[in-house]
Formats: sequence, structure tokens, C-alpha cells
Amino acid sequence: MSMPRVEVRNGQKVLLVDDKPFIMLSGELHNSSSSTLKYMEPIWDKMQSINVNSIVFPVTWQQTEPVEGEFHFELVDGLIEQAKAHGMKFGILWFGAWKNANCSYAPNWVKLDTKRFWRAQGQKGKNVGYFEMFGHKMPYTTLSAFCEETNKADAKAFAALCKHLKEVDTDHTVIVIQVENETGMLGTSRDHSDVADAIFASQVPKELVEGLVARKEGLVEDIKEALDKCQSGTWEEVFGEAADEVFMAYHTAKYIENVAAAGKAEYPLPMYANCWLVQGGKPGRYPSGGPVYRVLEVYQTVAPSLDWLAPDIYIPQFVDTCKKYTKQGNPLFIPEIAMHGGAPARLIYAVGHHHVLCFAPFGIDDIGTAADTFLGAAVGMDTSDEDLRKKMEPETYARVNALIQGLVPVLGDLYGTDQLDAVIKEDPDRRTMNFGDVAITGIFENPMMKSGAGALLAARVAPDTFYLLGTKCMPSFTSLDPEKPFFEYLTIEEGEFIDGTWTVSRLLNGDEEHVRFGEPTLLKVEIHLFD
Ligand code: DGJ
Repeated sequence: MSMPRVEVRNGQKVLLVDDKPFIMLSGELHNSSSSTLKYMEPIWDKMQSINVNSIVFPVTWQQTEPVEGEFHFELVDGLIEQAKAHGMKFGILWFGAWKNANCSYAPNWVKLDTKRFWRAQGQKGKNVGYFEMFGHKMPYTTLSAFCEETNKADAKAFAALCKHLKEVDTDHTVIVIQVENETGMLGTSRDHSDVADAIFASQVPKELVEGLVARKEGLVEDIKEALDKCQSGTWEEVFGEAADEVFMAYHTAKYIENVAAAGKAEYPLPMYANCWLVQGGKPGRYPSGGPVYRVLEVYQTVAPSLDWLAPDIYIPQFVDTCKKYTKQGNPLFIPEIAMHGGAPARLIYAVGHHHVLCFAPFGIDDIGTAADTFLGAAVGMDTSDEDLRKKMEPETYARVNALIQGLVPVLGDLYGTDQLDAVIKEDPDRRTMNFGDVAITGIFENPMMKSGAGALLAARVAPDTFYLLGTKCMPSFTSLDPEKPFFEYLTIEEGEFIDGTWTVSRLLNGDEEHVRFGEPTLLKVEIHLFD
């Protein structure tokens, strides 16, 4: 079997594991869970019980290289064994120099040597800054993206990890790697160290201007306008008000590229970078320099070793965020999303409409416990729909995962085509999917139906045959064929794929022909258009 890889199929990047399309029906563990094998032991069973096919969790620089030059891989080896014993794959989050615009996962020998591994300066001469969040001022400090020693040391440790994976992970249990975690600077829009200041006063590299111009279609308005006016000069001359963010993005992307390229030279697993999204206005209110949608093209220009750029979605604007991360050929991969009652519907939508590569509610190890209210409630969630205020039920997530997992062979063929689509209640502006001769509308507000976060996915596998996966909605077909304006169902089977075989649990007709999805359900329908 070939190693996990990314391939472009039907014009879209897909993830292949053991040579087959793989959709990561997943979850991200809390930051500290994978720090010991003992703590992880019960988690695998729990993950199996919710039918995820993979999980993502940190493997840290701190634990990998506690003493400079001495690498420890016992933990990652044990994690691979545990995952294999549970038939599970996993993605590694390399917590290197950055973790949420901070450097808490750098080894102590890095943290202690602030001369060799110098810190970014939010204000001139100051290695510590303050960031206001949830009403209090939090001190933070981060390593500088401009420090070559840090970049070299981080890349060396990451390359050692990748080399080791190549040697030990012959069954391909590790399928993707995230390089760093939520990079950028908080509390300021750029590094004010002497080194950064000198580079900021110099000319914008030609490679960047050319890369952005080549990707002009996707650029955000202010950056596009700036480039229309001026394509050479200092950062401020070329990018005006966006200069600090573009400058930080360019140098942070270069840093990550150096780390990713060193890893890929050893073992070229699919790799990506994630980000804390634009929130609260100006860069610095969110980490300045991370791969937010405003600067995706900067990353695409500078960091070719990254296969995609990924959003961590805790903001209410789920639909809009998905859209922003599917420009310029970037596939949607969601390594973190708030875990709440709306997440299963979001998974259905992300698979159907955006052909997502990974969907991972954060803190998945807490699912079904009292502790799992943390994110749904805390991080500025939209609570307009009752499901968004509720917990994600383990049974619901397990059901959706099982139904989608069975469908993966079908979905794999349809990714990148217009024969797979979805609508979601959260997007009131788009309720109808157009399949050429037939349209399918998702009806989410109807007194006959269970209300809550709903979604409807439609996968067309033959001219008259669709799989419909829905929750809390009613599907409504309309013929768009003027020659055959009437529609009827021939058969409606409710069921699921078990060991690759479509298995029917009920044949729906009569009253049940007026399909109403409550809990996540999969149907196979045969339709007839006629005059
Ligand atoms: C985003 C980070 O990337 C995660 O590691 C975690 O800290 C979550 N936020 C929730 O706190």
C-alpha cells in the first residue's frame, strides 16, 4: 500500500489512505490528553464507541526533545500501537514553536535561552505582551518567526519525528500532520524586534508580489487594491494598512515552510497549518501572521509544502468560514470546531457541500460528560438555534459517523463533482440544490417536524438514484425538466451500509413517503420524472 497522500480528483484535493479516499470523521482531543499512554488508554474505546475513524492530537516538541539533540519517540510509538489495536488512524498536531500564538510547548532548553531563541517583541524591547480576553489581561510571550536558530531547531526536531514515523509506521496509522498550532502574534500586529524592524523597512520580496498577483482572483479587497496601486517598495508602501499582517504572514509562513519541508524531506505525509480565525477586528486581536483567510494567498505562495490551510471554527459564522476556506483550490479541512448539538448537522453539510477532508469537534474526549459544555457555550457561539445551546449527544455523532463512513466509497467518487451537495438550516439564503434536471430543497421550518440544527445531503449515484442523508429537515424534489415536469418517488429505502453492503431497515411508503428526517437517517431513493 502507498503512504497516505493527497491527490487531485475531479479538480479537488482528496486524502487517500491505503490508496482509497478517506474522510476523517474525527475529533480533536484536549491538549494534554495525549501526553501519556495511560491517560489515553480509555479514550480509544470511547472514540470507537462514537464511530470516529480517526482522531487528532498533539505530539509536542517539549516531549520529543526534552534535552537538545536527545529525541524521545516512545510516546508516539505507544500511541501508534494503541491506535492500531483500535483500528483507528490519527493526525499529529506538531506543537513546536507555536501553540495559540504562544510558545508553551517549546522545550525548556529553548524557553530558558532567550538570547539564542529570542522572543518576538510586541512592543520595542519587550518580550512579554498583554492580550485582553474574556475581560482580563493575559500576559503572553512567543518565539520570534524571525529567529533563525529557533526555526532550525524546530525543523530539526520535526524532521527527526518524521524520519522516525517513516521507520516505524509501516501500517500508515498516522495520516496527516499539522505543522505548529495557531501561529501568529497577539496583542500587536507585528514583531517589533530590531531584526523584524529592519526587514519591515526593506523591500517586499518579488516572489511574494508575483505570487499574490498570480492569485489575484481570491485576494481580499484591501490587499488587491493595494497591489493595483503599487507592486514594489517597502511593506508599508506596497500594502498600506495591511502591511503588518501581510509582513507577519509572509515570515510566519516561511518559518512553517522550513519546518514542513524538513519533515517532508524525511517522510512526505500530507501536511497543513491551522489558524485562529479573524475575530475582534484588527490583527493582534486575533493572532497576526496566522493563515487567516485574508492572507491564504500569502501562505500558498510561500509555503508549498503545506497541502492546505485550515480553520479552527469557534465563531458563529460557520457557513461563511467554510466558504472562505475553499478558495484558490484549498480543500476544506476542519481540525477543530466547537462541540455542541449543531455539530452533526455541520458535518453532514461540510461533507455534502464542501467535500470536506476532516471534521473534528474539539475536546471530543469529553463527549457525553459534564465537562463538554466548555466550548459550545464559552467561545462566542451563536445560540439562536436550540441545538447550538445543547451538548453534542454521543449517540447522534456516532450515528452520523457510521452512516457517512458506510457511504465513503460512494462519496469518494463524487468528491469534486456537482453530483454531491448539501444544505444546512444555518444558511437561510441557500435551501435548494440544483442537479440539472431535478432540484432538491431542504425544508427546515415546518410544524410537522422536529426542530433544531438540520442539514440535508444528496448524493446522486445514477440518473434516477440518490442517497439522502438528513437530520431535522424535509426533502422536497422538483423536476426542472420542462419535458417531464412531474416528480414521484418509485422507492424509498431507509438503511445503511454494513460491511460495504446496502442494508435496508424499512421500505418507506404511504404516510412515510412524506419524508421527515428526525435523527440522522440515510435513505436510498429512486425517482421518476414524467409528464
Ligand atoms: C484552539 C487551539 O488550537 C486548541 O489547541 C485549543 O486550545 C482550543 N483552541 C480550545 O481551547
